[in-house]
Amino acid sequence: MYIIAHRGSSSTAPENTIAAFDLAVQQGADYIELDIQLTMDQHVAVIHDDTVDRTTDGSGPVRNYTLDQLKKLDAGSWFDERYAKERIPTLQEILERYSQRIGILIEIKHPKRQIGIEKAVVDIINRFSYSRHIMVQSFDDTALQRIKADAPSLRTAFIMKPSALKLTKRKLAVYSSFADCLNMKKTMINRWWIDRIHSFGMDVFIWTVKDQKTANRIKKYPIDGVVTDHPPFFQKKK
Ligand code: G3P
Ligand code: CA
Repeated sequence: MYIIAHRGSSSTAPENTIAAFDLAVQQGADYIELDIQLTMDQHVAVIHDDTVDRTTDGSGPVRNYTLDQLKKLDAGSWFDERYAKERIPTLQEILERYSQRIGILIEIKHPKRQIGIEKAVVDIINRFSYSRHIMVQSFDDTALQRIKADAPSLRTAFIMKPSALKLTKRKLAVYSSFADCLNMKKTMINRWWIDRIHSFGMDVFIWTVKDQKTANRIKKYPIDGVVTDHPPFFQKKK
């Protein structure tokens, strides 16, 4: 089971920063998960929200900032003063730093409001040698269909909302045409569904585990990956 550090090791360092991703590597995670947004000048920035307010000292929508302007923001002090030097990374920087060290799960946020983000992501990923260790995920099926059409060997994960609860055979056949993996909310976990998803050739990931009790429960299921803020909950025995 892959341990996937949600926005990096985000319980211990500011999310979606080099500090959080480095920590995930040190803690032995198999993947880092990160979120992307387009800047005003069409660069792909690594930040969860569509505004900078919650995780930086700036304010306003990411799309109103050029990359140079975004890079001036402090992306760490909101979490702890000792992270004041953290900056918002770009997807290119993350792939340069980590693609040979750890898997990377890239979440496309709000693709309907970010025209062209799928192509921008594939163009960046294509600069690197990729395998199953770089994946793209989204809550948006259309975005994943575009990614698959553009880059058939790039692995994809469809993030499932609990409202998508009824996984009929017909739905699973459609999902398997554009997704290699279903990433289910932890409350949806169910042995019968896991087996059914596997029978359609897809992997099963679970998002997002934040406490030890849930971690212990999740470990009992035959899943392929778990997204967690706290990778040490799942540390493999050496
Ligand atoms: O891996 C799924 C998870 O990252 C989706 O939720 O809001 O943390 O991006 P969010
Ligand atoms: Ca995410």
